[in-house]
Amino acid sequence: MTVVLLGFMGAGKTTVGKILAHKTKREQVDLDQKIVETINMPIAEYFDKYGVEAFRKLETQVLKEHMDFPGIVSPGGGIILERENQKILKEMPLVVYLQTNLDELLSRINQDNDNDRPLVHDKAIEEIKDIYLPRVPLYEEIADYIIDTTDKTPEEIADMIIEIE
Ligand code: S3P
Repeated sequence: MTVVLLGFMGAGKTTVGKILAHKTKREQVDLDQKIVETINMPIAEYFDKYGVEAFRKLETQVLKEHMDFPGIVSPGGGIILERENQKILKEMPLVVYLQTNLDELLSRINQDNDNDRPLVHDKAIEEIKDIYLPRVPLYEEIADYIIDTTDKTPEEIADMIIEIE
C-alpha cells in the first residue's frame, strides 16, 4: 500500500520514511529528491531562477507519477497547497500527518546547516510562522491519521505507522 507522510519542513518525513521503508522492506521515495534529479540543480537555485509557482507545477507532476508507488512517499512540506495535489492526496490510501510544534520545527530547521529550504532560509521566526500556521488546517484535513511527534523518536513514529497499517 502507498503511504504518504505529510508535514512541515523539519517534521521528519524523509527520516521516518526511510526507517519505515527499512522496517517493512519497502521502497521510499522522497519527491524533493526526484525533483532535484529532474531539474539537475538544488531547489534553492530553482526557486531563484524560475520561482515558486514553477516549482509547485513540478511537485504536482512528480506526485502524479507516484500516486500508485508501492511504498513510502515523502513529499515536500508545501505539497498540500495546490488544489490538484489536495485531491490526489485525498484519493491515496493512507496519508499520515507528522504533527510537530513550531518551536521544535524551528530548532530542527536551524540545525540543518546544509539548508536547501529557500522558503525558510535566513527568515525570521515570524515569517516562518506565517508560512506554517495557514498550512496546519490543510495537513489536518487531508491526512487520514495524525501523529503527534513530540518526544517520539523517528523509530517510534515508524512503529506507530506500522500499527495503523
Ligand atoms: C517546501 C518544503 C521543502 C521543499 C521546498 C518547499 C515547502 O521540502 O519542497 O523547499 O513549501 O514547505 P521539505 O518539507 O522536505 O523540507
